Amino acid sequence: MKPADVEHLWWNGRHYDLQFKDHTGDIPFYLRQVREYGEPVLELACGTGRVTIPLAEEGFQVVGLDVSTSMLSQARRKATECGVQIEWVEADCRDFHLERKFNLVLFPFTSMALLHDLESVEACLSCVKEHLENDGRFIIDYFNPCFDFLVRDLAKCYPVAEYPDPDGRGQVMVTENNVYDAAHQINHVKWHYRIGEQAEVVEDLDMRIFFPQELDALLHYNRFAVEAKFGSYDETPFESSSVRQLTVCHRRE
Ligand SMILES: C[S@@+](CC[C@H](N)C(=O)[O-])C[C@H]1O[C@@H](n2cnc3c(N)ncnc32)[C@H](O)[C@@H]1O
Repeated sequence: MKPADVEHLWWNGRHYDLQFKDHTGDIPFYLRQVREYGEPVLELACGTGRVTIPLAEEGFQVVGLDVSTSMLSQARRKATECGVQIEWVEADCRDFHLERKFNLVLFPFTSMALLHDLESVEACLSCVKEHLENDGRFIIDYFNPCFDFLVRDLAKCYPVAEYPDPDGRGQVMVTENNVYDAAHQINHVKWHYRIGEQAEVVEDLDMRIFFPQELDALLHYNRFAVEAKFGSYDETPFESSSVRQLTVCHRRE
């Protein structure tokens, strides 16, 4: 199991928030889940608090855990600005021991793709079980892999985002290309950042691809029971054409 490599521009909190500022469609979904399953809530790979902070603003008790110092310092700054109390934990989601339990553990926005091998997945699921109340819920938001995306033309760069550089160097243009390793089910994505007039910065982002039946099997054989699987944030049932795999599960003995 390799250490998490998160010192990328990718996991730079200020860039992240500008890049994903419009990504808010999942927040009402998480608010409904907390109302249904209760607090306290633990968010794994919480980043800059994009999900954690809106939950705390509704008065819920939330802990955010992430391995990146940059993402967490942005999260802390924003939480202070919003006047909410959140406990932030700097830790690897494959190895944490908080000695307390949660009614809800969330793993939002495809972060599970960062668990590249079986050892990492099992280590993370074991930590989740250690922190989940007996009748608590674990919710994973992951995408439904699409073959057209995996086999895209390697020679082409596809647009991803555009936003103003937080350090005032002009516009940041982000494009990507990818190569899919079908043997290891890793999508090797390269993100190309062009910042104003500066030379392009290229960042590697490896994403583990989990097909739907495999994700369910991993949960089953790690002693979780899948009780609901949605295909979108408005909780439509998961089906072949669904964009997301939103999996709600609990511990099974
Ligand atoms: C796609 S971002 C998601 C952030 C946040 N959950 C959201 O929805 O905006 C992925 C996050 O995973 C974190 N991360 C990567 N590897 C990790 C690990 N092994 N343990 C904990 N966090 C990790 C990164 O630092 C980054 O903040």
